[in-house]
Order: sequence, then C-alpha cells, then structure tokens
Amino acid sequence: MWWEDAVVYQIYPRSFQDSDGDGIGDLRGIAQRLDHLVYLGVDAFWLSPIYPSPLADFGYDVSNYTAVDPVFGTLDDFELLVSEAHDRGLKLLLDLVPSHTSIEHLWFREHPDWYIWSPVDGPPNNWKAAFGGSAWSRDEESGRWYLHTFYPEQPDLDWRNPEVVTAMQEVVRFWLDRGVDGFRVDAVNAIVKDAELRNDPPASGRFPFPLVGESAELDHVYSANRPEVTHALAALREAAGDALLVGEVYLPTAECPRYLEHLDLVFAFELLFSPWKAGSLLAAIEPAAALGRVAWVLSNHDFDRLASRVGEENVRAAAELLLTLPGAAFVYQGDELGLPNGPGHHPPYDRAGRDRLRHPMQWDASSAGGFTTGDPWLPPIGPAERNVEAQRAEPGSLLNYYRRLIAQRRELGGGFGFLDSPPGTLSYERDGHVVTIEAA
Ligand code: GLC
Repeated sequence: MWWEDAVVYQIYPRSFQDSDGDGIGDLRGIAQRLDHLVYLGVDAFWLSPIYPSPLADFGYDVSNYTAVDPVFGTLDDFELLVSEAHDRGLKLLLDLVPSHTSIEHLWFREHPDWYIWSPVDGPPNNWKAAFGGSAWSRDEESGRWYLHTFYPEQPDLDWRNPEVVTAMQEVVRFWLDRGVDGFRVDAVNAIVKDAELRNDPPASGRFPFPLVGESAELDHVYSANRPEVTHALAALREAAGDALLVGEVYLPTAECPRYLEHLDLVFAFELLFSPWKAGSLLAAIEPAAALGRVAWVLSNHDFDRLASRVGEENVRAAAELLLTLPGAAFVYQGDELGLPNGPGHHPPYDRAGRDRLRHPMQWDASSAGGFTTGDPWLPPIGPAERNVEAQRAEPGSLLNYYRRLIAQRRELGGGFGFLDSPPGTLSYERDGHVVTIEAA
C-alpha cells in the first residue's frame, strides 16, 4: 500500500497560506504552496478540519460535514486542490471528526436521538470532559443533559444509533467521491461509550499521556475505549474501502490492536510524549515497532512544538529518528524549519491553550513571513530568523536536512533492529545502515 512507508505532512489550514488577504490561511493558498511539499519529498498531506465550524474548538466542532468553511474557500477550491495535489503525485487526507459535532450542527436539533442524553435530570455519572469539568451539560432548549467528551459546544454522537453510522458513512463517501485518499480519524477511541453509562473508576496513575484538570482523576474505561468500538470502525472501513484510515487513538500502544482490526495505522503517541532520553525513547519505540502499522509522530497541533519540546539542540536528531524508523511518519508544518512555540494570542482563541502551536508558516523574511498580505490571525514568530526561502538556499539548513532524510529513506528496505548502544544514545540498524541518535 502507498502509505506503508509514507511521509505525511500535516497542514493546519488557518496557518499555512492565505490567498485573499484576510489573514487566515485557505485552500487556494495551500494549492499555491504545494511545491514546498514536493521540494520536501513527502508523499501526502493531511488537512486539519476545513468544514464549517463556529470555532469553539477551531474546526474540530463541525457544523456541516459536507461543505467547506467559507473562510477556507469553496468546494470548487477543494476540488482544484485535490487535482493540483494529484498532478504532483501527492495524496490528500482529510480530518474526519466522527465522535462529536458542533452544537450548532443542524443534526443536534433535527435528530436529537443521534446524540447521547442523560436518562435522569442531571449528570448520570462521574464522567469528565477532556478540557475540564463535567462531561454533561444541560441543553437550555430542551432542559435535558447531553454528553460531551470535549468542550460543551461539542455534543457526542451516539454510535449505537444505526442512523448515525449511516450518516457518517455518507460523509466518508462524499469526500471519497471528491478524490480524497484517506482520513485521519479524530478522537477515535472515544466514539463508543459504555451502554450503561457506568462511572469511570478513580485514576490508577498508569495512564501515560497528559490529561487536563479533573479528567486526570479518572481512568477512562467506560467513557471511552469500549470493545464495541470495533463495530463503529468496521462501518467506517466499509465506507472507506481501501482509502487510508489513520486513527488518533489517545492510548498506549498496548491498547491499540483493537483499533488496527479496521484502521490501517494508529499514531505512536508514546513516542510523541517520550522525554528526549535514550531509555525512554527505546521503551516507546519497541512496542510500537513490534505492533507495526503505526504512524510515527513527534508533534501536531495539540501539543508543544517539536523544537520547544526536545530543545533546539535535538531537532536534527529528532528528524533523523522520525524519518528512519520503519513505517509511516507524520511531520507537522513548520517543524522542518525548527519553529518553536509562539506567544499565542491575548485573549486566547483556544481555551485549552493551544494557540501557541498554531502560528503561521514562514515562507520568507518579510514581516508577515509571506503568509498573508493582510493582518495574520496569529503573528509569525521571527520570520527573518526562520523561513523557507532562506533555508532552501542554505545547504546545511534544517529544511534541507529533512529533505535529504526523506530522499534517503526511499532507499531503505524493511530491516530493523535495535543495537547495543552506549548510555545516552539509541542505536538501531535499518536495512544495513546504522542509525545512532544522541539522547542523553
Ligand atoms: C483531537 C484533535 C484536537 C481536538 C479534539 C476534539 O484530539 O486533535 O485538536 O480538540 O480531538 O475534537
């Protein structure tokens, strides 16, 4: 399959390239910059959500699954982007958000039974929302309480209702008909909840990833990750055919096999959250490599940027690791320039504090970095210091390092095995080549 060893570049559409001067990136802007992806040598790109959204969660609160938000353009612009991408041999992945809609989606009023409601007048259990507070809120209009795994503006769909399954299958087919090559499936471990709405037990302390606020006080064994999720995934697969499905499964690797029954890949989040220490990296990589079919990833639009997390001194080693492990690798836009976290915005756009990971791409040294002719929605972070134009011209730049690594991985076969390595280093053999990563 094309994706087995693919490099996929994540585009955050608001922040990639603006084409109409409104300070917000758009689809025509992305089409204008596809040559950057060709220069890097990636196989595919994933667009974070482009659907209409009231922006409570910046696009992850979808109010219409089969349209393009006017801020990004039109369906025609999308079709143009697909054909421009395919002309260059690039595949395109969309972000599928099946677990919840926006509270402003028409479905919430037209099909209330497509959502999960409390059987009592108040929260029926102790479930907590991922961004803090109870996972239950009162709908002022009906007076009933609905479930939301994330913000209150994101009511959860009821995947036990066959009409929801059919509706989401239609969404998948709608975009496949327009030429998309696959989907990154958002929050997929949370799409099916316990039928009896049992209380989540107190946290055992074993969950290895960041959780926010009260959500960290519980083990999410009933509010998410139910065995029945495989039925929902089978339905997505049925609609997707052989299009790529990459799951955002926010769980340790050991819990991922269930998801791989129907998804092609799951993100290797243990690697993303590993401290930059050889022993921790080894512990994160070993089980994921053994599982196979993981998408290696070191950063995305939700967590600290790679350069800020591992430190500037380690960005090259991180790139080498990401791009020499066996299997697909995801690169978040701007990591190839070494962009750090930015200042964000005051007042914040994202209540969970993620603005600072979403600053615009920097194409040249001008004050808006070539991102927009208008006022950028988030400011660029020192475009004179880091930009695509300058790094293309400099053979030893980080951008050209990514480019060389991507070219070299084309020559690598499948062989992979760890080697004994001195403390503070991680060594492995990939198809006869020895890779040594410094991580003291
Ligand atoms: C995923 C997205 C994140 C979003 C959440 C809720 O984790 O990556 O940005 O807030 O789902 O949709």
